[in-house]
Amino acid sequence: MADKIVIHGGIPLNGEVSISGAKNAALGILPAAILADTPMVIDNLPDIQDVNIYVTMLEKLGASLTREGDRLTVDPSGIRFENVDKIVEEATKLRASYYILGAFLSRFRKGRQPLPGGCPIGERPINLHIMAFESLGARVQITETMISMEADELNGADITFDPVSVGATINAMLASVKAKGTTVLRNAAKEPHVVDIANCLNLMGARISGAGTDTIKIKGVDSLRGVVYSVVPDQIQAGTYMIAAAATCGNILVRNIIPQHLESLTAKLREMGNEVTEYDDSIRVIGRRPLLPVNIKTMPHPGFPTDLQQPMGVLMCLAEGQSRITESIFEKRFEYVGQLVKMGADAHLRTENVAVFNGVDHLEGAVIEATDLRAGAAMVIAGLAAMGTTEVLNLEHIERGYVDLVENFRALGADIARVSG
Ligand code: EPZ
Repeated sequence: MADKIVIHGGIPLNGEVSISGAKNAALGILPAAILADTPMVIDNLPDIQDVNIYVTMLEKLGASLTREGDRLTVDPSGIRFENVDKIVEEATKLRASYYILGAFLSRFRKGRQPLPGGCPIGERPINLHIMAFESLGARVQITETMISMEADELNGADITFDPVSVGATINAMLASVKAKGTTVLRNAAKEPHVVDIANCLNLMGARISGAGTDTIKIKGVDSLRGVVYSVVPDQIQAGTYMIAAAATCGNILVRNIIPQHLESLTAKLREMGNEVTEYDDSIRVIGRRPLLPVNIKTMPHPGFPTDLQQPMGVLMCLAEGQSRITESIFEKRFEYVGQLVKMGADAHLRTENVAVFNGVDHLEGAVIEATDLRAGAAMVIAGLAAMGTTEVLNLEHIERGYVDLVENFRALGADIARVSG
């Protein structure tokens, strides 16, 4: 039997938590190392499964790596195109492996990889990535399971994304940094991790401007060098702890973060009546009662992030009145609502992408499942807030993206443990 997390809930969480580097930035910076002509040092690398899969892929591709704590040194000189067939297993498991396509197109003018699988939150096509590669001059072939492409040369192009896509924006940057001429990305994603990867590439010698706005310009350069780069703090992990403070009526200082990256969440927590104080590199959240109902519509950054709507759904179950979440990014991101109903929540789907939460006095502990990475964190928060005992199953989802979740919550006073069997 797999492991599970067992929580005896109802304890207000108090104390401090330090946030690791951002998963979704690290998963773009690791492939950027493929483009460096000299060794690269990546600091503040989160020790999570998705990152560890990427490190394994770089090793199999021929890079030599040394890892000390959160510092990874990558010498990419040994990477060979022929090794791409050695990472089929990992690339099938990890959707973000598709950034290797963009990096290989830049370095080798060709790429070959398994098509990324779907996942619990929706179909998640990669048509925008392919459109970007073709715009730059790549000839792309797709079979049932594989994508392969090659280009005689890469020329700058004017590329417009619809819808806004974090992955396609990042992949287009990786593919165009060494193209001839200038590439323009319109309706580009503005997430902090997009900016972080652009900052890293610029430090390596790229000429990217406008990251963080709708329009990113990339002037092709001949070569990129390895640098020392520290990954931006993970605003989604930070937001998870902020919401946990509100859900347990606790008092938590979330440290080593960039508060500006969390403005949409801070606004909503305040609107619900919680006390949120921003400092230079930390935020304190003090949960208050009664919680007031709010409505959220997930949007690309700087709108409310889709990766935090599930933990917010838990908080809405405890508000006085009716709250609503409209999920506008993915088509299947409310699987967790059914799990909350098992805990006594009064919640339902009005449509496939609108969930309604009528607050109840409290949630009751139950045996519940993590249905995807972010829903898993939401289930832990629900267990921490609930009266009684909660067991959270399917931990593999949670391990992918949260560093020391159980240990951090225990240090904040939670009665929580990971139990095998
Ligand atoms: C990134 O996924 C994140 N993953 C996701 O986080 C996050 O939820 C998402 O961005 C939105 O912020 C990583 O960064 C590794 P998109 P990504 O391309 O890039 C559609 C987590 O929990 N689309 O911005 O795959 C797509 O179907 C994960 O850390 C196309 O139509 O998201 C979706 O509806 C979950 N064609 C919308 O765009 C494409 O070619 C936004 O997706 C690509 C995307």
